[in-house]
Amino acid sequence: MTDRKVYKTFTGLVAALVAVTVVIFVVAQMTTSGLRLNAGKTALAQNQAAIAARIKPVGEVTVSSAPVVNSLIPAASAAVKDPGKATFQSTCVACHGAGVAGAPKFGDKAAWAPHIAKGLPTLYKHALHGFSGKAGYMPAKGGNPGLSDADVEAAVRYMVVHGK
Ligand code: HEC
Repeated sequence: MTDRKVYKTFTGLVAALVAVTVVIFVVAQMTTSGLRLNAGKTALAQNQAAIAARIKPVGEVTVSSAPVVNSLIPAASAAVKDPGKATFQSTCVACHGAGVAGAPKFGDKAAWAPHIAKGLPTLYKHALHGFSGKAGYMPAKGGNPGLSDADVEAAVRYMVVHGK
């Protein structure tokens, strides 16, 4: 072999080795980059789940509790808006609250029974215009002429429904 030939063969060999190295490098890049990307995605998802768990609010409204909440709201607003309750508390409670002077006491079922037996129209009439019974004297509109008829009737209903 001449020097020239040795040089040529050696250069070819080096070039081939470089080419093989490049090919191996590229193939390795191609096959592992997909893995790295997936690993990154998994780690990100796990992180997000962990963060969500850490910053989760203490209380949670579950769907099953919604009916309970919904049933409480009308009850609460009805209590506030009941004009009968307001009138009862402003006027009627003076006698009916504690059962003063023969007045049937709010919440006393036995005391209210004979009055309720007369029927609502009679109770309205007696509450509006006054009534002298066996137990005592019920003044017209509870002694408060400033009350409207509707207020007095609502108060009667309130006592009859809630106070017996
Ligand atoms: C000053 C006391 C007094 C006040 C205030 C009062 N009541 Fe009376 N109420 C009586 C008494 C006493 C009786 C029982 C009369 C009886 O049966 O002898 C009575 C009975 C009643 C009855 C039953 C009537 C019947 O026919 O059996 C109704 C209904 C009634 N009151 C509604 C009211 C309402 C509504 C108010 C408020 C707007 C009110 N009362 C305020 C004393 C009072």
